[in-house]
Amino acid sequence: MRKKLIAGNWKMNNDVEESLSLVKELKSKELNDKVDVLICPPLTSLYSVISELKDSSIKVGAQNMHYEERGAFTGEVSPIMLKNIGVEYVIVGHSERRQYFNETDFVVNKKIKAALEYGLKPIICLGETLEEREKGIEKDSVRNQLTKAFDGIKESQIVLAYEPIWAIGTGKTATSQQANEMTAFIRNVIAEIYREEFANKVVIQYGGSVKATNASEILNQPSIDGALVGGASLNADEFAKIVNFGN
Ligand code: PGA
Repeated sequence: MRKKLIAGNWKMNNDVEESLSLVKELKSKELNDKVDVLICPPLTSLYSVISELKDSSIKVGAQNMHYEERGAFTGEVSPIMLKNIGVEYVIVGHSERRQYFNETDFVVNKKIKAALEYGLKPIICLGETLEEREKGIEKDSVRNQLTKAFDGIKESQIVLAYEPIWAIGTGKTATSQQANEMTAFIRNVIAEIYREEFANKVVIQYGGSVKATNASEILNQPSIDGALVGGASLNADEFAKIVNFGN
């Protein structure tokens, strides 16, 4: 059985004080212990949040990193630096990074390799644009992203997040059937690239306008192993309701 992973991607929100107060509120709530809970605060809050969560089961991830270990890359942070402060996961290839910061499939591939090399678990985001979906080529697009992302990578502890770009921050959620179909498709492609046994172990999340009111419907789909939550993870009550979906 795959354990579900419910992750909050705070994006560029919350200074240190705000991050700590959100985390303290979250910690005080009863959270479903059948799922793994992860939060990804902005870089400046990572260290304080990790310290605050020392005795908690809530895990912490970064939203981005460079693929090099060190060097003249002004403004960047390396996998080794994240690992050093106790970061466990790192989001790679989020569509906002692909769109605004020119993160190509080639860069995504290098980042996955670097994350794995330094013992970070990458959450690899992929998904089609609205145009691709309207043309009916969403599966080709996702297959293409997957093949390039995994180039030269052995079976490892990775997480995937299927995030149709048209559903991110728009309030438009993919239907649970669409999301389930695509995550099942992704699992089949992984089985083609690697082995079915491995594909059956990979956690595949859905992301895109997940909120308390639709979490249960989405998270009860057989092929969906969790959620990558943006906006709704900024409120402790709302995020806790998503984590406790259906309870
Ligand atoms: P959203 O963002 O939940 O605000 O749509 C999801 C994401 O970007 O991971």
